[in-house]
Amino acid sequence: MIPLKQIRNFCIIAHIDHGKSTLADRLLELTKTVDPRHMKAQLLDQMELERERGITIKLQPVRMEYNGYILNLIDTPGHVDFTYEVSRSLAAVEGALLLVDASQGIEAQTLANLYLALDQNLTIIPVINKIDLPNANVDQVRADLVQLLGCRPEEILAVSAKTGLNVEQIIAAVIGRVPPPVGDTTAPVQMLVFDSFYDTYKGVVVYGRVFNGTIQHHEQLKLMARSVVSDVEEIGYFKPGLTPRESLQAGEIGYIVTGLRDIQHSRVGDTVTTVRQPATQAVPGYRELKPMVFAGIYCKEGDAYEELRDAISKVALTDASLVYEPDHSEALGFGFRCGFLGMLHLEIFQERIRREHHVAIVVTAPSVAYRVTLSKAGIHNRQRKDKRFSGTTIVVTNPHELPEATHIDRVEEPWMRVDIVTPSSSIGPIMTMVQEKRGVFSTTEYLDAEKAVLHYEVPLASLLVDFYDTLKSISAGYASLNYDFLNYRPCVVQRMDIIVAEDPVEALASIVYSADAYRIGRTVVDQLKEVIPRQMFEVKIQASLGGKIIASSRISAMRKDVTAKLYGGDVTRKRKLLEKQKKGKQRMRSMGTVDIPPEAYRAVLKR
Ligand code: GTP
Repeated sequence: MIPLKQIRNFCIIAHIDHGKSTLADRLLELTKTVDPRHMKAQLLDQMELERERGITIKLQPVRMEYNGYILNLIDTPGHVDFTYEVSRSLAAVEGALLLVDASQGIEAQTLANLYLALDQNLTIIPVINKIDLPNANVDQVRADLVQLLGCRPEEILAVSAKTGLNVEQIIAAVIGRVPPPVGDTTAPVQMLVFDSFYDTYKGVVVYGRVFNGTIQHHEQLKLMARSVVSDVEEIGYFKPGLTPRESLQAGEIGYIVTGLRDIQHSRVGDTVTTVRQPATQAVPGYRELKPMVFAGIYCKEGDAYEELRDAISKVALTDASLVYEPDHSEALGFGFRCGFLGMLHLEIFQERIRREHHVAIVVTAPSVAYRVTLSKAGIHNRQRKDKRFSGTTIVVTNPHELPEATHIDRVEEPWMRVDIVTPSSSIGPIMTMVQEKRGVFSTTEYLDAEKAVLHYEVPLASLLVDFYDTLKSISAGYASLNYDFLNYRPCVVQRMDIIVAEDPVEALASIVYSADAYRIGRTVVDQLKEVIPRQMFEVKIQASLGGKIIASSRISAMRKDVTAKLYGGDVTRKRKLLEKQKKGKQRMRSMGTVDIPPEAYRAVLKR
């Protein structure tokens, strides 16, 4: 039995790339948690995708021992699309290291994650990282942190996660400043599930923080949300690999192999208790997340639906912010309508389906969720199709569900509260850019003479297309961004269809602002012309708005010189050959289908 006062639970929060995973490496070395022979850079980033891109996508817990103390650390992602991972980690710990890059200073996610941690009443330990860099500005960052946190300058640690300089001070601060967990080891078990994954051999494995009680190997556990009972087939903690032991007690962070095969049984935010001594109350879970961006996911090969379903449900188990439901489309067959927290989330999801589950997919153009108030005719029409329909508004996330204009009274779109942290020198260009994207300015705050936070209100649809990339390029990479849902506001939109070789391509349909439709139609058509390969026949590419063609272009046919074999002379033979070729092409055009390459979908997104 470990006395609670010997346990500390904490996580590292920071803006993207400020060095969380690197600092975690140094802590693992210092506490000798990992054999030096097995040490590699950013050890906690275990997914192949994380290592390749150098970003953390998943939270990752690890247990360290130091001078008789148990230190449970959770490494968290820094990108705004993965904030849900951060908020879940925060509920499992008592303290947070707030890491700030000495050369970059405070950024948008530094602020966003700090506020999340303060909401949970966590003890904050401010740490300035990368002090080894020649352009480190430790004094300035320290002054900014003092102003932000209202702490004393000496409370702020200054380290280099790369060289290891001063990192032992962090361990001392965690032991000295973060309060030990409180809990009763003899009370009924309450373990909050903050993550889970599916292992082919072990079944569902849940990660959790025990708030009360002691849970033993081999006893029966109960998942409280759905009263599912199962055996504790294995129990243990993270070193950082799964390391079995006999029990987990109040205050500890660990995992349980549940033996459950049905992944629907386990939910992040659920509470585990025991059958022997069940708890009467679950621990407060997490707020349900509302997805921001929707896209249809379909199989490239028609018969892979089962595999796709299996792949999506397995990814969903480790990705608590993913929302999905079955969907069917005339052109694309059976698939799923999925909701994501942002574009990076969507991108990572696609990659995971392809790489981890080897299913070839088609992803439709992403859309936000529009709230459509129906006109009288629209309500009538709905009721005819669906007898149970009694409302006046519907939520539309799929361009094909947008009712025709006469059935619509009003459409509203989601707006976001956007905070941009930027060097003062880039304020001008940023203001112009955000205004072009329909953003409405609210206020500016200065963190110091060099750095400001701009507060904006921006339609989510504008944030999806190129906002982040443009912001980065006009600020030479220095500005950073965070956003949050604000409210719904009226907008004027229409569905735009893309027609390739006389065939509407369902996956390329999108909902666009009516005022921008002509410009967007033109851009998309031109871009498609660049990426669709030439065929043996002429291919027409068109954008259509409410049945009217608004932009069009052609890809000319590949030309084979059928007359090459003729030597001089007879004109009629030459003409005959050309006539034959022309007929052949006509026939091909009527039968030919064009295989649209994946770059085409990307081109439409980057319009
Ligand atoms: P995300 O997980 O993507 O949010 O990033 P992170 O915060 O985990 O950052 P990571 O540890 O991946 O570090 C980002 C980059 O900064 C890497 O190239 C590190 O090598 C580098 N880095 C981290 N700490 C230091 C430091 O103390 N000094 C220097 N010079 N570089 C550092």
